[in-house]
Amino acid sequence: MNKQKIVEEAKEMMKVFLTEAKQYIEASFEKELRIETKSSRNDLVTEVDQYIEALFTRYLKQYFPSHRIFGEENAEHKVESLEGAVWIIDPIDGTLNFVEQKRDFAISIALYMDGIGEYGIVYDVEKDDLYVGEKGKGATLNGREIRRVSDRRGVADSLLIVNLSAVNLYPKLKEAIRVSCGLRLYGAASLEFMAVATGRAGAYLAANLAPWDVAASKIIAEELGCIVSRLSGEEIDMLEKGTSVVALPKVYQELQNLYLKK
Ligand code: IPD
Ligand code: CA
Ligand code: CA
Repeated sequence: MNKQKIVEEAKEMMKVFLTEAKQYIEASFEKELRIETKSSRNDLVTEVDQYIEALFTRYLKQYFPSHRIFGEENAEHKVESLEGAVWIIDPIDGTLNFVEQKRDFAISIALYMDGIGEYGIVYDVEKDDLYVGEKGKGATLNGREIRRVSDRRGVADSLLIVNLSAVNLYPKLKEAIRVSCGLRLYGAASLEFMAVATGRAGAYLAANLAPWDVAASKIIAEELGCIVSRLSGEEIDMLEKGTSVVALPKVYQELQNLYLKK
C-alpha cells in the first residue's frame, strides 16, 4: 500500500476510533477512577489511559496488522527503531488534568514511516477539538485549515509556555519570560504545542518529554511553520526522552541566540 493510501485509510480508522474513545472517556467522568502512580506521585495512570491504548491497538490490528506501535501505557508497545510504519501513541496526554480537572487533556497519535512523521492527530476530548497534520499538506482544526504562524512576532510580542524543569536547565529563560507578554502553563504537552501552532503563544519549552508527548504535535506544528527541536537546537530523536521547544520562527531564533545558550 502506498503512503497516500495508508494515510487515507488511517483517517477512516481514526474516525471510528475517536468516536468510541470519546464515548468511553465521557462515561468515565461519571464513575470513580482507579488511579495508580508510576515514577512519582504526580505521574499517574488510570484504567482510562490503559483502555484507550488497548482500544487503539485493536483498531490498528484490524486496519494495519503489520504496523508497529510505540505507546506509553503498555510495556509491549516499545520499539528499538523507527523503520517501516510505527504508530506513536499517548492515550491520555495530561493525565493529571484528566484526573483533577476533567479538561485540558488530549489523545495524541502519530504515524511515522521510516522515521518521518507523516500523519498526526491531537484530540482535545473535552472541547471536542481535533487537530490533524499531514506531511506536506498543512493542518486542520475540526476540518478547517489552520493558518500558518506569524514569522514577524518575537518574544516581546508573545506569551511563553515554559515548564519549571526547562528554567532549571536554562536559567536565562527567566529573562525571556520577563521580556515576553507573560507566562502560561496548561499541563498537557500536546495542547501546549497546539497553543503555539495556532498562534496563541510564541513558544513552549519543556524538559523531560517522551516521544509520545511530542510525536503528533511536532508534525502539526511544523506543517504550520513552527520550528521544533531539543532546547539545545538538536533534532528530536523520536526514540528518546528529552527536552523540547516549539516556537514561531522569530521567537525560536531569539530564544536560541539569547536565552538557550549555556
Ligand atoms: C505529561 C504532560 C505534561 C508534561 C509531562 C508529561 P502525561 O504527560 O504532557 O504536560 O509536563 O512531562 O509526562 O504523563 O500526562 O501523559
Ligand atoms: Ca504525555
Ligand atoms: Ca499519557
